[in-house]
Amino acid sequence: MTKPKGLENGLTNYGDRDFARYLRRSFAKSMGYTGAALDKPIVGICTSESGFNNCHRHFPEMIEAVKRGVLAAGALPVTFPVISLGEVFLSPTSLVYRNLMAMAVEEMIRAQPMDAVVLMGGCDKTVPAMLMGAISADKPAAMVVAGPMMTGRHRGERLGACTDCRRFWGNFRASKVSADEIDQVEGRLAVTAGTCAVMGTASTMALMAETIGMMLPGSAAIPAVHADRLRNCEETGALAAHMALTGGPRPTEVVTPAAIRNAQRVLLAVSGSTNAVIHMAAVAGRIGMKLDLDAFNRLSDETPVLVDLKPVGAGYMEDFHYAGGLEGVLREIAPQLETGTCLITGQTLADRLSQPLADPIDRAVIREATSPISPVGGLIALRGSLAPDGAILKRAAATEALLEHEGRAVVFTSLEDLANRIDDPDLDVTADDILVLQNAGPKSPSGMPEAGYLPIPKKLAQAGVKDMVRISDARMSGTAFGTIVLHVSPEAALGGPLSLVRDGDRIRLSASEKRIDLLLDAATLAQRADEATVSSPVPARGYTRLYHQHVTSATDGCDFDFLGSAPGISG
Ligand code: FES
Repeated sequence: MTKPKGLENGLTNYGDRDFARYLRRSFAKSMGYTGAALDKPIVGICTSESGFNNCHRHFPEMIEAVKRGVLAAGALPVTFPVISLGEVFLSPTSLVYRNLMAMAVEEMIRAQPMDAVVLMGGCDKTVPAMLMGAISADKPAAMVVAGPMMTGRHRGERLGACTDCRRFWGNFRASKVSADEIDQVEGRLAVTAGTCAVMGTASTMALMAETIGMMLPGSAAIPAVHADRLRNCEETGALAAHMALTGGPRPTEVVTPAAIRNAQRVLLAVSGSTNAVIHMAAVAGRIGMKLDLDAFNRLSDETPVLVDLKPVGAGYMEDFHYAGGLEGVLREIAPQLETGTCLITGQTLADRLSQPLADPIDRAVIREATSPISPVGGLIALRGSLAPDGAILKRAAATEALLEHEGRAVVFTSLEDLANRIDDPDLDVTADDILVLQNAGPKSPSGMPEAGYLPIPKKLAQAGVKDMVRISDARMSGTAFGTIVLHVSPEAALGGPLSLVRDGDRIRLSASEKRIDLLLDAATLAQRADEATVSSPVPARGYTRLYHQHVTSATDGCDFDFLGSAPGISG
């Protein structure tokens, strides 16, 4: 057991340790602490609260509950901020700043005097950023999340951000919803504190954090405004105090290759967000593990989809919580899990799963493995001549008839080109065509936005077309749906085959073969590659320059190439 050092952790270097200790205690006392309080182990509370993050607006109340738990268990809670990433408030994208936040989390845990830390995140990128940073800092850490928001109501139907945001916007574009109604809906989509109400990226990442063992069992899906959310905070504070006193477990003892594989299983069983594939690759990279897309496909082919939630199904996250939450999913796929993994509680996953269930599982929301919604996982990786290093398809969110499809490419060379031409009445496009967006990957100026959900051209939408095959090196919001091929790698900005597609080329998608191919002969491709000028403008200065120079591919998690651990473990 490591003895807690409390305020003496990492003394400032003045060349005189006693002076550094005396000076630190003196300045801490200026905040009104007694000497007795400053002698206690310290639990840092790392919060990503911000006026630019609606999902975290209830954090002040949650922080008070965490503090209560820490104090009652005999340690001193000290809150500190890191940057926040409010999904819709960041430009060009929140993903660009995930690594900045991860660096801030890592360095502030390491640099400041604490024996353990409670990580408080929730919105899409804050959970992976905190996990990445905490793993690299490797001090005992426990996570709490914001929890999902509650649904709203509109003319007798439930609404939840943000699958219903897209549905209404699609209907507005198709002239089925009026401007007045879309104004009304704007105020009814996101109606409480908390993260998006469907199985989007935030909810998926919360489940990932709980599955890998970094959160208390049963906590990922508790609604943001439920009193259980505050009880969870208090309990996490108490656990973190215990971790501060005992010195463990450390994140690298919890986040192991087996824990990551378990999380991937859950991702597939809940038909989670495609973004989670990127984030889990980045989290895995922090323990030196490289995710293998072929291994991911093997998991996908043997893991059933069990939950009936939007954006793919019918329910919302509050339904999932009341139906049994992650526990209900874990119990069904238990034979496929590696249950020797360690949780922050000190239990193994097997210990957790051997506890009696508090309530029966609601089978309308969480199916039994013997009667799944789909016998295979919600996501697959694709390879082929268009994506030699991989691409991702959420097959659970796709139109069945489009999963095997060959069509003519209609190409947009950038987001600007897409915005300028997609609704042009003269655009040469039919419902059988394949929409292709280039230059929207990690190294592009757009910073890999959630633009992979290309809008259906207005004239087709108005004619009733709801889905088309769409391909890009961009991402897609976890709350979106459609036959959408994402994260094409190598990206167009690096001269990948995606950059060589021209209007009228034939492209073939085969989900059954897990392939995405540009149907051109090798000589034509080589000639186009020779003629191409790869231009990926390097930002002149600052963080965006660092990002551009060091961001890795989507397949490797879009982390910085200098932040991974020593490679060597493959998943
Ligand atoms: Fe924060 Fe959706 S905007 S989770």
